[in-house]
Amino acid sequence: MATLVTGGAGYIGSHTAVALHESGREVVLLDNFSNSCAEAVDAIRALTTSGMAFVKADLRDRDALDSVFDSHEITEVIHFAAFKAVGESVEKPLDYYDNNLGSTIGLARAMVDHGVESLVFSSSCTVYGQPDVIPVTESAPTGAESPYGWTKYMSEQILRDACAALPLNTILLRYFNPVGAHESGTIGEDPNGIPNNLVPFVMQVAVGRLEKLRVFGSDYNTPDGTAIRDYIHVVDLAEGHVAALEALAGGLSGCNAVNLGTGVGSTVLEVVAAASDAVGHHIPSEIVDRRAGDIEKIWADPAHATEMLGWTSSRDIHDMMRDHWNWQRSNPNGYKS
Ligand code: NAD
Ligand code: WQD
Repeated sequence: MATLVTGGAGYIGSHTAVALHESGREVVLLDNFSNSCAEAVDAIRALTTSGMAFVKADLRDRDALDSVFDSHEITEVIHFAAFKAVGESVEKPLDYYDNNLGSTIGLARAMVDHGVESLVFSSSCTVYGQPDVIPVTESAPTGAESPYGWTKYMSEQILRDACAALPLNTILLRYFNPVGAHESGTIGEDPNGIPNNLVPFVMQVAVGRLEKLRVFGSDYNTPDGTAIRDYIHVVDLAEGHVAALEALAGGLSGCNAVNLGTGVGSTVLEVVAAASDAVGHHIPSEIVDRRAGDIEKIWADPAHATEMLGWTSSRDIHDMMRDHWNWQRSNPNGYKS
């Protein structure tokens, strides 16, 4: 019996592969390296077992997918594989719809054809936009503001319809803002080019690859004027996936949306202060205009994850910054160092 992890060489997939191995599962990783590399697979194997199976394939390739299901006894799937850059999705909408929806539909079809019923899907708090009520619960209205966001919204709907009609049970995990790295510092987030996300940007400033952080907006209605997000340690997130698979194995059926967040919001300036503490020196920054499309504040109500999955986060913003810095300082140029 094995767990198929699509996008398994990526940031969240690599940490989840380690957590799955620690839970005693056999893992099959699948990735096309469109946003990752073979070095990540080597690093996962070094932390787990040199025998962890890896298949280099595009998830939209049905023959490749059939061969994975035929050659391994897959009983459950975690589906991470997707393009994820909001700005790029505005420039290349068809690439995003093709990759993210094509992958999800092709995978769900293959699962049904091969009699595999348990699926955990990577969704995002982006489906909430700016919620009226914070902390946000899973029953809040959903929508999208970018092609990327629409691919998550549409994938959720596709899976909801598929679960209603077919022998398929799904947990839609709505991640808040994953940061941090495995405590070993040997796997972590390795963005291509200049990072869009706050913490990878801050860490590249800290290591000297970038000159200074631009803080997008200081006139929000928050205690220090900067925007609030719910940052979650990637290892907590990984453990949430193991808990989700266990809930499905325990008989949870249908299609269930679950927030994976900490329930704690941090401002941009609070993140920069925690990062400075972890790094041990000041991180240069300047306040600039708001970034188009940004919301003011969001954090999760994680109660449903605790009730449904028996999961709760255990690492705080200082743990996140310590571990992200440990990865960045050990690998200043990511996996290619
Ligand atoms: P990532 O880019 O590091 O990992 C995704 C992996 O999928 C990459 O290794 C990439 O090469 C692979 N991939 C993409 N398309 C593929 C295809 N067609 N076939 C095979 N492999 C393919 O991203 P991540 O941060 O690990 O995110 C994982 C998932 O979580 C994504 O679905 C993303 O949308 C979602 N998510 C991420 C965040 C975040 O901030 N990182 C937040 C919410 C949701
Ligand atoms: C966090 C805060 C920025 C960079 C994005 C996606 C979302 C989800 C997670 C996948 C914001 C501020 C950032 C910088 C800054 N991904 N910031 N200077 O925007 O909450 O969410 O990633 O599903 O879909 O939109 O995350 O890390 O980009 O920004 O001041 O250089 O940091 O304005 O307030 P975001 P982020």
